[in-house]
Parts: sequence; structure tokens; C-alpha cells
Amino acid sequence: MTLTELMETLPYGPAPEAAQPALDWLKAHQGKFGLFIGGKWRDPASQEWFATLNPANAQKLAEVAQASAVDVDEAVKAARKAFIGWSQTPGHVRARYLYAMARQVQKHARLFAVLETLDNGKPIRETRDIDIPLVARHFYYHAGWAQLMESELAGYAPLGVVGQIIPWNFPLLMLSWKIAPALAMGNTVVLKPAEFTPLTALLFAEICQSIGLPPGVVNILTGDGKTGAALVEHPGVDKIAFTGSTEVGRLIRKATAGSGKKLSLELGGKSPFLVFEDADLDSAVEGVVDAIWFNQGQVCCAGSRLLVQEGIAERMYTKLRARMEKLRVGNPLDKAVDIGAIVAPVQLQKIQQLVQKGVEEGARLWQPSWAVPSEGCFYPPTLFTEVAPASTIAQEEIFGPVLAALTFRTPEEAVRLANNTRYGLAASIWSEDINLALDIATQIKAGTIWINSTNLFDAASGFGGYRESGFGREGGKEGLWEYVKKAESPHPKAQSRKTRAPSRAAKETPSLQPATFSFQPPIDRTAKLFIGGRQARPDSGYSKAVYAPDGQLLGEVGLGNRKDIRNAVEAARAAFEAWRKASAHNRAQILYFLAENLSERAEEFGHRIHAQTGQDGHAEVEAALEALFTAAAWADKYEGVVHPTPIRNVTLAIPEPIGVMGILCPDDQPLLALARLAGTALALGNTLVVVPSPLAPLVATDFYQVLETSDIPAGTFNIVTGERDELAKTLAEHDDVDAVWYAGPQAGHALVERASAGNMKRTWMLLPSGPLPNTDEILRQATQVKNIWVPYGA
Ligand code: NAI
Ligand code: MG
Repeated sequence: MTLTELMETLPYGPAPEAAQPALDWLKAHQGKFGLFIGGKWRDPASQEWFATLNPANAQKLAEVAQASAVDVDEAVKAARKAFIGWSQTPGHVRARYLYAMARQVQKHARLFAVLETLDNGKPIRETRDIDIPLVARHFYYHAGWAQLMESELAGYAPLGVVGQIIPWNFPLLMLSWKIAPALAMGNTVVLKPAEFTPLTALLFAEICQSIGLPPGVVNILTGDGKTGAALVEHPGVDKIAFTGSTEVGRLIRKATAGSGKKLSLELGGKSPFLVFEDADLDSAVEGVVDAIWFNQGQVCCAGSRLLVQEGIAERMYTKLRARMEKLRVGNPLDKAVDIGAIVAPVQLQKIQQLVQKGVEEGARLWQPSWAVPSEGCFYPPTLFTEVAPASTIAQEEIFGPVLAALTFRTPEEAVRLANNTRYGLAASIWSEDINLALDIATQIKAGTIWINSTNLFDAASGFGGYRESGFGREGGKEGLWEYVKKAESPHPKAQSRKTRAPSRAAKETPSLQPATFSFQPPIDRTAKLFIGGRQARPDSGYSKAVYAPDGQLLGEVGLGNRKDIRNAVEAARAAFEAWRKASAHNRAQILYFLAENLSERAEEFGHRIHAQTGQDGHAEVEAALEALFTAAAWADKYEGVVHPTPIRNVTLAIPEPIGVMGILCPDDQPLLALARLAGTALALGNTLVVVPSPLAPLVATDFYQVLETSDIPAGTFNIVTGERDELAKTLAEHDDVDAVWYAGPQAGHALVERASAGNMKRTWMLLPSGPLPNTDEILRQATQVKNIWVPYGA
């Protein structure tokens, strides 16, 4: 054999990482673990245990406890008790604990990496070089935020006890994403790891003990979905943070609806990987490897849809097949293995079924010539070409090493295909033309965009989705808001206020009679709905009387229904792209002009407000004018940041409008509320369907005359009057509405949050009366941060 021949056929020898230290650790615990509650280990109340296996060889690794509702209650109590001290602990001291966690993770990095690989089946190359280093990085980064909280988040306080539920695909990394920010902000936690992969969380609990973390600050409960559900339902929990399937996310959304619990959800995805014809193809091929064969494709943000420009598609596929042929699937502890084991037989079956479906639906399947190990849970890298955009494998999350390829001709078509999904987690864009790449990046509805790169993560960059990929961000400063609340205002859960309603007597006998016969009746004014820039009669053909606090009949408003809401949403959707793309300067100008037109009619509005609420109308008009000015001022000043991620790139964190929003206004200060809430949402590029307070709707219907005389584009600002909860439900259920802000009674909170689970829209619950939220909160609620990673280097 010549040297050249030898070089070409050079086979890999085995390069296994030793499993012994991890196996010794398991043995030291007799292969059996209890629950970590209040700083101590205890047996589960049920005395039930279950096994966790190594998916690479189906061997049992250990037995872990099945926590029940009783244990959940104990853990929440321990966390509540610890919260008193932990929330008062100075930021600097909390920083020291987080720093110690980072250090400990680093000092035991290899043990963690091997244990993770054994329990999950992912290659040691990944646990060693990606998962565990990122875990340490997360604790370091958030130690910094604990240190800075007092100055950088002045006026904000921790939430209390946080329930955290994580999946099996990045067990310890997801633990760090959850625990680090929660602790940094002064919360205590009860965390439930996934049933397939509990071991590294238990090793982490030992670290908490070894660094002397006060008991109860971190509690770890192993168990299955029932344990998770018990945690979600526990009334002593102030917030739930969940990562996992959209299906369970939806259940949690419904279960927490109306409870006042804060919620963040990181769910599934079907992220596009776009390759334009001027891309560096060899780099793009390596990108695909990292996008869909990283962690066996069991990644929420996996680039599972390859969208490639038609002219280069065949070349790309050829290169890709050649590369796939060289990938190595096998023993995850082997340091030269690219793809490890699928986490469990049930997941393997799911992948097999979806691949079968792909074949049946007519896509072309390609797999490498070699076979995967027959023992253990393995699946080969798989490429589907000629995939139809609406087919199952183009739409459903497969959560395995399976790539579905589609082609496009123009950038417009690329954007359309990329956004043709219910999800919105991430996207990768490959082009040597930075203008094109950034242009596409702003048009894709996804929380993270990687340009000429993929699957980059860092604690300094926020991560999270749009649409059915969930809401909330983890990482970056943007992630901290999930774990704090305004210090001054008590939590909405604790408050309850009465809503004002006209007295029954007044309702039944409205005084329609003029006082004297010489009275000249005013011309009957008909307040209509305002949809698509035009006044519209309500579809129902009904009107509703509006009374003053003393029972006087003030007028009537249209009784809007489902259909009116649908029309309004349609108008708002049609107006959205243009409004979002209008320059911030332009949006500010329009808001200033709106204020100008309102001030023209200050007298009239002052009287109207007084009549509707009995309050000082003049002062409220002045406050509303100021609110419109504030909104206009922010339009071109609500800036993003550049995150210093430790890779040669700039990570642009850009606040983007959420989209079409439904706003159900509070009863107090109707004009100010309208100006502050709607004005701010509008300033940042959202389009609106506003439902005025049922107690003071005439202020809003007068307002559309101001809208008509200003330059606000048709459809940007729609007003539908009617029964608050009926309209709220329609808005919350509507698939084309991206967020609902609801100011109303507690019962309505439950209704709206539950109904919003359909498309996982963002919700914000307010009370019908009392102080309005501050502008900084409204600005955050009106936007989501998109992180765009732009690497540099020639
Ligand atoms: P899952 O969503 O059932 O599990 C995630 C976590 O939620 C686990 O800790 C589980 O015990 C817990 N859980 C389950 N039911 C619960 C409930 N009713 N209330 C509270 N907690 C509950 O995900 P699973 O079954 O492990 O995987 C199924 C599919 O979900 C995968 O094929 C994949 O498509 C998707 N998935 C997505 C992930 C992501 O990161 N986006 C992570 C894991 C799974
Ligand atoms: Mg396991």
C-alpha cells in the first residue's frame, strides 16, 4: 500500500473517554438518589424510584426518586423560607455564590461531561467542549448581574419562588440557563430535570452543598411529567420557567392562566437554514453539519429546513452527501464520534415514523451507505430533497438528525418560505453579501438569527422565540426581566380591586327625558367602530348604552362582535409591514401630530372625561398629551445593544415590534391609558386593535376623530367597542394576533391567558383600575429582542 493510498483509507481507531470516574460517583451513591430539598437529601414521599439509562447501550445507570405533589409542596416551602434571607442577601454575596458555582463546574468539568454523555447519549466532544463550558460561562456571566443588580436594575425586586422545568437535550446547560439568572436576581428555585437525564442536576445539587449555598435556595426534584404538573399547579410558586415541547408548553399556559404566575416558555422550532447562491458553499456545508447533526438534531433551534437557492441546489446537495458519508455515528464516549445516541427508544420511534411519512409524502430520501450500530438508540444522518413546503417533514419538529431541503428562486420567496411555519425560534442565513443577509435577517420572524454561522450560544446573548416557539428570553440583560418585578407595585396576585359599574337602578331607568320642554336635544351622535381607517357600523347591529358614574345616560356605542374583531385584525395585519418598516422618525412625527390634534380638542375631551369618570378631565388630557410626546420621543430612542459574545462577531440585540396587538383598556383614566399603552405600542411599530374600557368608551370613540385628522396610516390603529371579555376572548384565540394586553378583572386574566395558548401569543395582564404601568415596562412589553450574530474575520 502506498502512502497516498494509506492516507485515503486511514481508518479511525477507537478513542474512548474513560467512564470510570462517573461510574465511581454513581457507585458511591449506591446507584440510588433521593430528592434535594432544603439543602438535604431525602427519600420521596411515595417511596417510588425509576431508572435512568444510558441510551448508547440501554444499561441502567442509577435509580432516581419520583417526586410527588407532597414533595413538591415540601420543596416550595423550603424555597419560600429561603427566599426571605436570599432576597435580602446583598448582590455582591449572591455574586460570590454564583461565582463559586461557575468555578466548581469548571473544576469538575470532565466528570460533568462524562456523566452527561452517559445519561443523554450525546458525544463527549460536545459535552466536553460545548455544554459544560457554556454552563460555567452562564454562572460567571450571571454572577456579574447579581453584582450589578442594585445599580443596573434599580427599582426592581425578585419575584419569589420560581418553578423550573427542563428537557433532556441539554440537561445541565438548561439547568444553568434557568438557575443562574433566577438566583442572580434574588429568587429561590425548585427545578425539575427531565426524567431521561436527571444525573448532572443531582451532581450539581452536591455542588450547592459543597459551596455552602443557604439551604432551600436551590431545590432539585426528579420525576416525570406528573411532578412537573404538580410544580406548575402549586399556589406557592410565583413563576414558571419551562423549556420543552410546544404541546406541554400549551398545557402549562392553560394551567397557569389567571393565577398571576409569571411565565416564560422556550418551546419547539423548525428553523430555516438559508443558503443564497453567493454563499461560501463549503462553509455552508459545515454549517449544516452543526445545524442539524449537532446533538443528533435534538435541538430546539436545529436548522432542520434547508432552503437553498435553485441555481446552486444540486451542487450543495452533492457536497452535503459527500460530507454525510464521512460523518461517524457511534459510541458517544468515543472522542472521534460526530453523532451519538438518540436519547430514548420513544424518540427514535418518533424519528422513524416521521421519516416514513416523508417518504410516503413523496420526498426523496438519502442516507449514507454505512450502517449505524445495531445495539443502542442510533439513527443515521438523513437528507430529504424535493420536499413540498406544506408536507409534514417541512412543518413538524422531527427532533432528530433529519434535514428537509427545499429550493427558492428570489430573496422574497426565501423569506416567505422561511416564515412559513408556526414556529419562530432561530434562522441561519448564508451569503457573502452582508446587505442581503441583514435585509433577510430583519424579515424573518425568529428570536435569533445567525449570519454565516449557526447554533452559536452565549450567556451574553438572549435566546428565545416568537409565535409557537414561546416567549421570554434567556441570557443577556433581556433575560433578567423574566426574574424581576417592579419593586414599588405589589404583585398583581395580591391585589384585587372592584370595578365600577353603574347602579342597577340607573341601568334600568336611564333618564332619556329632557329636563324641560324648551330643551333643545343635541343631534344624536352615533359612535361607530373604527376599522381600517374608516368608521364602521358594528356587525351585530346593536348598540350599548354608556352611563356616567351617577347613572346619567351619556350616549351609545356599537356592540362589536367576533366578526368586527376579525375585520380589525385583518386591517391591522395588512398595515403591519409598512408601519414596522416606516422609519422611527416618521412614526414619531405621526405621534406628535396626533398629540397636536388632540390638544386642539382638549376642551371637548376634558368635558367628556369628566362626564364619564367624574375625574378632572383637563388634567387627564394634559397627561395624555405628555404620554403621546413620551411615546413619540421613544420611537427613535428605544435602542438595542451589541452583546460582547466571546467569539469574533458582533451580536446585535434589536428590539422589534411584536406585531398585531390587541389592547383591552383599563377603566381608570381612559384617555391617558389609551395614549400611554396604545401610543407606546404604536411608537415601536406594532399595529393595534384597541378595545376601550366598557365604562368609558366614548373617550375612545371621540379619539378616532383625532385619528382621522392625523396622518396615522389606515389599519394601524383600530377601535372596537363592546363587551370586554367577549372581545378579549376572540382576540386571545385569534391566530393572527401576536400579543394581548388585557386590563380587567382577575376572571378575565384566566380567560385570556388560557385562550392565548392556541398560538402562544404574548399576554400582559393588568388591573382595570389603579396606577398605569410605567413607560419602561410598556416599552419592554411592546417589543421582543432579536439577536443577530454577525461574525467577522477575513
Ligand atoms: P416534554 O415537553 O414532555 O418534556 C420536557 C419537560 O417537561 C420534562 O422535564 C418533562 O418531565 C416535563 N413535563 C412533561 N409533561 C409535563 C406537564 N404536563 N407539566 C409540567 N411538566 C411536564 O418533552 P418530551 O416528551 O421529552 O419530548 C417530546 C418532544 O418535545 C420531542 O420530540 C421534541 O420535539 C420536543 N422537545 C423540545 C425541546 C426543546 O428544547 N424545544 C426539548 C425536549 C423536547
Ligand atoms: Mg438517561
